[in-house]
Amino acid sequence: MTETRKTSIHVINGPNLDMLGKREPHVYGTQTLDDINTDLAVRAKKAGLEVIPFQTNHEGEIVEKLHGIFTTGAGAVILNAAAYTHTSVAIRDAVSMLDIPVIEVHLSNIYKREAFRHKSLPADVVTGQITGFGSQVYRLALEAVRDLIHAG
Ligand code: DQA
Repeated sequence: MTETRKTSIHVINGPNLDMLGKREPHVYGTQTLDDINTDLAVRAKKAGLEVIPFQTNHEGEIVEKLHGIFTTGAGAVILNAAAYTHTSVAIRDAVSMLDIPVIEVHLSNIYKREAFRHKSLPADVVTGQITGFGSQVYRLALEAVRDLIHAG
């Protein structure tokens, strides 16, 4: 490990989350990802933390991002792997390598939706999961990692 910044919180968003605000607003709300990241940055700063946002539509880029975090260290990860939540063994395995808090989030309640969304592959290797509170899930996850980091 070459660098450890315990105050760095990586917020990783997977496919189609760059379309938040336009995409199925009845399911995902009207806030854009920029709105969410801006709100998180303000809240993080007040808590003495720094948010590092990342979004990609490509599975391997999430894997490589997690490898980078494994190598450099960080305070925590907030992860919405979106559709890859339900399909990606590779992302699950990369999450499993980390020994920092990883909070899985979903805007929609994945357990109230189609059966194929009920299974989360990383669910049993993350610290915890927050699902179904719309864009508030990111804020709730930040509060959780803030408490974990400041307690540790
Ligand atoms: C999602 C839920 C997933 O099932 C879906 O594929 C997404 C977003 C959510 O935040 O509710 O793209 O992760």
